[in-house]
Amino acid sequence: MQEKKMTGEVYYPSQEAIDNAHIKNWDELNQLATENYEGFWEERANELHWYKKWDRVLNDDDKPFFKWFEGGKTNIAYNCLDTHVKTYRKNKLALVWEGESGENRVFSYFALRREVRRFSNVLKSLGVKKGDRVTIYMGRVPEIVVAMLSCASVGAIHSVVYGGFSVEALNERLDDSHSKVLIVADGAYQRGKVIPLKEIADEALKRAASVEHVLVVKRTGQPVNMEIGRDMWLHELLNLPIANQPFEMEELDAEDPLFILYTSGTTGKPKAILHTHGGYMVGTYTTMKYVFDIKDEDRFWCTADPGWVTGHSYLVYGPLLNGATIFMYEGAPNFPYPNRWWSLIERWGINIFYTAPTALRGLMRFGDAWVNRHDLSSLRLLGSVGEPINPEAWKWFHKVIGKEKCPIMDTWWQTETGMFMITPMPSVPLKPGSGTRPFPGIIMDILDEEGNSVKPNEEGFLVIKNPWPAMVRTIFNDPNRLVEQYWTKYPGYYMTGDSARRDDDGYIWIIGRVDDVIKVSGYRLGTAEIESALVSHPAVAEAAAIGMPHEVKGNSIYAYVMLKQGVEKTEKLIDDLRQHVSHEVGPIAKPEKIEFMDSLPKTRSGKIMRRVLKAKELGVDPGNLSTLEE
Ligand code: WT7
Repeated sequence: MQEKKMTGEVYYPSQEAIDNAHIKNWDELNQLATENYEGFWEERANELHWYKKWDRVLNDDDKPFFKWFEGGKTNIAYNCLDTHVKTYRKNKLALVWEGESGENRVFSYFALRREVRRFSNVLKSLGVKKGDRVTIYMGRVPEIVVAMLSCASVGAIHSVVYGGFSVEALNERLDDSHSKVLIVADGAYQRGKVIPLKEIADEALKRAASVEHVLVVKRTGQPVNMEIGRDMWLHELLNLPIANQPFEMEELDAEDPLFILYTSGTTGKPKAILHTHGGYMVGTYTTMKYVFDIKDEDRFWCTADPGWVTGHSYLVYGPLLNGATIFMYEGAPNFPYPNRWWSLIERWGINIFYTAPTALRGLMRFGDAWVNRHDLSSLRLLGSVGEPINPEAWKWFHKVIGKEKCPIMDTWWQTETGMFMITPMPSVPLKPGSGTRPFPGIIMDILDEEGNSVKPNEEGFLVIKNPWPAMVRTIFNDPNRLVEQYWTKYPGYYMTGDSARRDDDGYIWIIGRVDDVIKVSGYRLGTAEIESALVSHPAVAEAAAIGMPHEVKGNSIYAYVMLKQGVEKTEKLIDDLRQHVSHEVGPIAKPEKIEFMDSLPKTRSGKIMRRVLKAKELGVDPGNLSTLEE
């Protein structure tokens, strides 16, 4: 590969990196996967455990509702736990955890399976069956991993709600999923403070009729309200004889749902993206193995929260499917000091470190001295995800953290894709800011409005042209939305919602979202959620939210608010409104700036023209205004 001269700034892999990698020759693998796409994925599936093999690798009879490994019987939790317990990995560490205040817990594969079996027995004793929805709402503690795997074990569909979300967001997700059980922690530690998760849940539960049982995980020990007949302490149930009985996992169909995960889309409420046991398992297993090049001796740390898809695919499932040791840290990166993460890497001997550009930009500001106090020589591979990484942050990551010897895997993917779609591998030349090329066999393109491929270096809409195993299967409760949102603009192609360009080497550069999704610190929020939270305040008549460039967060939220008649425009009200959004959606959705307006720019059909607000704020030309109302 090195013989071909590439354009721009290129970082070539060392011979050592190539020699050590699972995939030494990307082009060869790509050719193999392209020539026999289904065969390629079938071979990967054959590396995993199936109670019964599939009848058909890919069923595309009912596009875009694709099916993978149809007729196959498996359970992803079996592949995460039992497969390894049956080997020399039985006593290998599966999960290493450090709490924010410094305590730690470790679980071998054997111990993790034991905990999952006990938890699964508890779920079964509460009547949780295959297909039931279970919502999980807690911080980054080992119980969240155990809870997810236990749901999978009994065939229930987990719906993890990020612990940073608040009342309205939780309520909406409980309600929409018709969850039977809620698993919640009493509280979560964040920067030395306690977030009262159970209290927030109590408020959300007032309007969630489907929830029959609430399992409470004791984490902080602060007093909580326990409603008799509904709420139970998990640790009490785990000690009952029923929890410690033998447990057999459910043998599930490849296409049985594993989880739903709510994510923000173009309009309206967040949608429940549904993933299945079979294809999702094969996709996350393979990408984890090839991209993070996972080996038995590795300790892998993904800093994401399990409340987001990164936490699902590459904190829990991908690494465990590969029998790796995962590391999980409960708290904030800069608590109590800005060296916390670097100290964790040193003390726990982390080899592979996967994080988000926003975190890097935040930590960069504190200066290199905080990093240089620590021995980071255990690191061999780095990763980035969630938003475009600016070359400055990339270079800092590469030099100051990776000491110029760790390739950076800039992985582009989405909640909907389930697995990496554009990503380097350790043996591939890198360009700071580009995720390089699509994963072998995946065909992607960049199109103009009319659906023609754009020329190299021109911007357009990023689409995916062929199905892949971990793809979203449906939107729970709303299958039509899957078709409308992703498969309608360019029939036959999956529309990502991102704009991008491709350079002369075929490397893809993501520019950003082209819809009403705002990426704040890598978190995905919809303008609609922020606006509806604002409008739910008694003083507000109408609201519009936009994303504005922000040095650390990538984007921050600006909101424009029309007050109801007679309401006074005060500084205090601005403060109240920010608090209100934080209470309804969560602190991540809190607008950076709120401005009172006498009217909002709208189209004649009444749609808010957010781009006009954004252009005004940026001081640029708002473009075509022919549809503006006045
Ligand atoms: C959106 C999906 C999938 C992991 C976390 C985000 C943006 C994600 C990258 C990257 C540039 C990226 C895109 C995408 N995005 N990774 N490496 N480079 N942009 O999942 O919350 O579903 O968000 O995140 O805009 O569409 P998500």
